[in-house]
Amino acid sequence: MHTLYESDDLLNQYLLFHYATKEKLFPYDFPVSEALDFSKRCVLEGVDFDSLPSQSRALDLGCSVGRSAFEMSKHFNSVVGIDYSEAFINAANVLKNEGRHRVDRLISGHQSISEEVILDVKSRRDRVSFEVGDAENLREDLGDFDCVLACNLICRLPNPNVLLDRLSTLVRPNGQLFITTPFTWLESFTPKDHWLGINAEDSFSGLRKALEEHGKFKLLKSWDMPFLIREHARKFQFSIAQASRWVRLEG
Ligand SMILES: C[S@@+](CC[C@H](N)C(=O)[O-])C[C@H]1O[C@@H](n2cnc3c(N)ncnc32)[C@H](O)[C@@H]1O
Repeated sequence: MHTLYESDDLLNQYLLFHYATKEKLFPYDFPVSEALDFSKRCVLEGVDFDSLPSQSRALDLGCSVGRSAFEMSKHFNSVVGIDYSEAFINAANVLKNEGRHRVDRLISGHQSISEEVILDVKSRRDRVSFEVGDAENLREDLGDFDCVLACNLICRLPNPNVLLDRLSTLVRPNGQLFITTPFTWLESFTPKDHWLGINAEDSFSGLRKALEEHGKFKLLKSWDMPFLIREHARKFQFSIAQASRWVRLEG
């Protein structure tokens, strides 16, 4: 397994990506506001709450430090967040238990500011649990869900098709699946012969083929979602994920 997501640098980056205010994340007047609050937007734009049952259960795969899972706790009775990074899951649990987490906000080089990120008080922390786990080898007794999120995860997996196969048992019939991915394929994460759509028109065709196979999922909608990750005070990654919402068909 890759150890990138265990490092302090990535932990600080993701704590800021998920929880920092605009003033801390991007204190400039350039127009990027549509790319902020990605993890919150994944829930608010990604999930169609009107078509979900009232007592519902959700899963956030590759949850990182937990923002989408906490956002889902406002709408679902129980939420499970799973990530293979122990450092990220520990941080998510600190936020669950204490509602805050220390973060070093890098300015440049050796200079950083030590401060805190704060969890939105409307989060229902009692409804959320986090665990370390591998999305390609999830525990058998995880059960099934009315809604599954997998945001910016699939192009970090050694073999995305293993997860895409398992999703048909994780999402209940008529349940929703929301996926985002910038399709940033890198051989250090995913061997080239496992890149989705390698023999198709493009990566999204590969994703669609895998999910629609045997009538398991139907595509409801797909759209572009920009996001901004802060590296330091003067360096940012601007990406555009392809977002897609799917419904699990019966049978
Ligand atoms: C690009 S980050 C996206 C995190 C979060 N979903 C977001 O949108 O901000 C990828 C995440 O997937 C996690 N991850 C990578 N491979 C995984 C695997 N096999 N099982 C579970 N999580 C994994 C990483 O630890 C990291 O938190």
